[in-house]
Amino acid sequence: MPERVRITDVSPRDGLQNEPGVIATADKVRLIELLCATGVDEIEVTSFVSPKWVPQLGDAVELVRMLFDRELFPRLLTNWHGTEFSALVPNEFGWKTLWETDRKLCDDLKNSDPIWKQTRLSDGFIDKVSVFTSASETFNKRNINATIDESIVRFIPVVSAARATGREVRGYISCAVACPFEGSIDPRRVVAVAERLVALGVTEIDLGDTIGSAVPASIVQLLQAIRERLGKRWFDGFQITLHLHDTFGRAADCVKTALDLGVRSFDGSVAGLGGCPYASTPGKRAPGNISTETLVRTIHDAGYTTGVNLDALAQAAAFARKITGRDHRSP
Ligand code: HMG
Ligand code: MG
Repeated sequence: MPERVRITDVSPRDGLQNEPGVIATADKVRLIELLCATGVDEIEVTSFVSPKWVPQLGDAVELVRMLFDRELFPRLLTNWHGTEFSALVPNEFGWKTLWETDRKLCDDLKNSDPIWKQTRLSDGFIDKVSVFTSASETFNKRNINATIDESIVRFIPVVSAARATGREVRGYISCAVACPFEGSIDPRRVVAVAERLVALGVTEIDLGDTIGSAVPASIVQLLQAIRERLGKRWFDGFQITLHLHDTFGRAADCVKTALDLGVRSFDGSVAGLGGCPYASTPGKRAPGNISTETLVRTIHDAGYTTGVNLDALAQAAAFARKITGRDHRSP
């Protein structure tokens, strides 16, 4: 029986946050609906960040309301394979907005079967919260206006409140291989941040190759360092996730290497959309994520299984290309 690998599609969040235009909320909702039908394990639906910093995702509240609307949500469930929903949260402000929005929706729907019965949480539809920091001080300051220390302090109330409501917490570490401003990053710096996130109570560490500079050798160094300090048990479940951007077409090779080293959870973005707006440097736009299509094919070719249907994935990717205008322009 082939071993199962977990897939998170981050296109509604990472994929759309760096687009030149703002995508209509209804189109984002449709993309999420199509992604639900693919069988991916998790979809990162949006970010509760400042709309001044990321205007493309300034509709987070509206999006969540639309997604779990009394009319739409039952339709979404007809093609639902147990997909979890997650969202990015940088601070307590973002957590409170998410929680209040989610809680209100649940209160409204509480008595309406069968919708309610099919949700897992007692007080929310967003199953997981993702906090995000970096192994690079320069990038962190530019991305969330905080040092690494300050960001960890900000996460304390977020992680404890999210865990207290039964939600999982993903801790992203950006620049896990290289930083657009500081260059290559020593894996020991990544490990130091990972240990602090684990001490806070995150349930997953997501290693972000923000500018797509990883090659198999750097992935080996990084994962060995993480394994040495966090221990094997972090690799036994789906607790170490690899989040690859793809600048030089090496991301698929990195996936194969990571599989060999025991990683069983990966992020991708349909149509290869993505990029952090604060990782761009003059004349150099941050690269897109590894496409979920390439990711899933690579994993299947390596002899593992995912719950993903490649035809449904192609449909979601085609829709993503359409709403971002990639039908007409080069990536
Ligand atoms: P700041 O300006 O330092 O925040 O930004 P502040 O606390 O000083 O507040 C300033 C204003 O923002 C105030 O409003 C706050 O209320 C408001 P004002 O009084 O001026 O009207 N504010 C908020 N509004 C909405 N939601 C919030 C929020 N917090 C404060 N949560 C902040 C700090 C963290 C907010 C800002 O820097 C920010 O939003 N950054 C987000 C950047 C981002 O989303 N980057 C992309 C995601 S990371 C990524 O892509 C990498 C990843 O994919 C992994 C990888 O590839 O490596 C995850
Ligand atoms: Mg990213």
